[in-house]
Amino acid sequence: MSDGTIVINGNSHPFKPGQTILEAAEDAGIPIPTLCHLKGATPTGACRLCVVEVAGARNLLASCSTPAEAGMEIQTESPTVVRSRKMTLELLLSSGNHDCIDDGSVKDPKALFDARAEADGHSEHLCPSWGDCKLQEYALEYGATGTAYPKTPPLYPPELKNPLIIRDFSRCILCGRCVQACNEVQVNEAISHGYRGAESKIVALGDLPLSESSCVFCGECIQACPTGALVEKKAKGIWRPWDVETIRTTCPYCGVGCQQTL
Ligand code: FES
Repeated sequence: MSDGTIVINGNSHPFKPGQTILEAAEDAGIPIPTLCHLKGATPTGACRLCVVEVAGARNLLASCSTPAEAGMEIQTESPTVVRSRKMTLELLLSSGNHDCIDDGSVKDPKALFDARAEADGHSEHLCPSWGDCKLQEYALEYGATGTAYPKTPPLYPPELKNPLIIRDFSRCILCGRCVQACNEVQVNEAISHGYRGAESKIVALGDLPLSESSCVFCGECIQACPTGALVEKKAKGIWRPWDVETIRTTCPYCGVGCQQTL
């Protein structure tokens, strides 16, 4: 049951009490790009990719954290919105190691990936999430090339110390989804935001390797990561999304035996 309607891109749509603009738009079948939003977790409004234009508002609003209100008139793809998203993506691409936007010369990314993948599953030259990365997907959609701003080199080396998870800080966009997955979904509270400004980093127990922290290697953070910052080491980088069939099975990580779609 709805207590009202909102107007999205010129059309009226019902919304449920308590829904955000993003949720109402999703129900209406209108896609809004998101990077930091994790369904079921507290909206943080960290990435600003989901911004929309709301009539009467002085600034663009993050749709993931703005409640829908009856009578709102919303534009999800206006020129201002598109410009803002492109700038956000350019800023993200300029920080760290995001070699995912090519000049069109990569005709067969699978062959390129296979050729470059290293035995330990980590290659600094081709992201293991190539072809399965939300940042890459949106950059291509909004025409962000990663050339608009000077590049900020990565500050932290990758952590390859444990047998299960590769943490590549150079590909982290600090969206915080892994932190929410760990703290709000699994309630492990093994990782959190650490440091400030340009030195910001997702840390485990005051910046220890995962293997020395309270991490139980459940893999929830890997599922939540929208880029190649957290990847499963066991995969050794030899499979790509197009190689994989999704099945329902028993999760092999922690021994609890949860059924998962993997
Ligand atoms: Fe809304 Fe990141 S998805 S601010």
